Amino acid sequence: MRDSRETITPRAFVAGYPIKHSRSPIIHGYWLKQLAIQGSYEKVAVTPEDFPAFILNLKNGDAEYVGGNITIPHKEAASRLADQVDPLAEELGAANTLWLAEGQLLATNTDGIGFASNLDAGCPGWDKAEVAVVLGAGGASRAILQSLRDRGLGTIHVVNRTVARAQELVDRFGPRLQAHPMAALPELLQDATLFVNTTSLGMDGSEAPDLPFESMRTGSLVTDIVYVPLKTPFLLQAEAAGLSTVDGLGMLLHQAVLGFEKWFGERPEVTEQLRRLVLADI
Ligand code: ATR
Repeated sequence: MRDSRETITPRAFVAGYPIKHSRSPIIHGYWLKQLAIQGSYEKVAVTPEDFPAFILNLKNGDAEYVGGNITIPHKEAASRLADQVDPLAEELGAANTLWLAEGQLLATNTDGIGFASNLDAGCPGWDKAEVAVVLGAGGASRAILQSLRDRGLGTIHVVNRTVARAQELVDRFGPRLQAHPMAALPELLQDATLFVNTTSLGMDGSEAPDLPFESMRTGSLVTDIVYVPLKTPFLLQAEAAGLSTVDGLGMLLHQAVLGFEKWFGERPEVTEQLRRLVLADI
């Protein structure tokens, strides 16, 4: 079994199925070049059927990787198959970053950190919000709710088309959360100073409902995890209402930082140049 520091030319991967559209190789390739590190990062298409064997090869060193990223549909399986899962990934039941250390395959989930770091960079002080509204209750919402709770936000309203899914997350993440149907959105926005879209609404030119952002307080922040297009319908509506916005591309970039550091030994920076490079591929 290998440890990242013993390997001369460390290799890392992003495994998913399908994997063709992953932009992670652009990000890690950029950092490897910037930091002049001899290493590589590659896409690997792994079917759900083959995933357990892929992890076994990773653990016993046959695959010659120091670790990698895990994406759809393997995040849940990765958290089950790793030797040690940190509390973030454990609570989410999903891991997106794996690395080998002292013969063990370790796992974490950096989606929540990516979300929070993106807002730290784009709107410092965002976490002072007392009331947040989060739209959506899927996998992405989970990591974001965990991050909002851990950053100490006051009240977190989870709004979802299927209220039962929102309620599940409320039960999981505790007393500061409340579940609501879509119809409650206009009223909830009146008291909120942070709105987060975690659904695919507005992605790739799809429709998104008009929301009364003008009823949010002055200085409120609206953010979206969708980054194709970069200016989503929700962000455009929020800008028109005079609110602050942070787009979702930074979440993708910031969630990648920790993995790079674990595999290649240096902490990389999310720069404007990197943002432009990834944008050019969108
Ligand atoms: P992910 O893991 O990327 O978050 P997901 O688990 O499929 O993806 O969740 C998608 C989210 O977008 C859900 O909250 C979903 O609402 P439901 O739980 O009711 O399915 C929401 N969503 C997707 N399309 C939607 C639409 N047309 N209107 C409202 N919500 C939608």
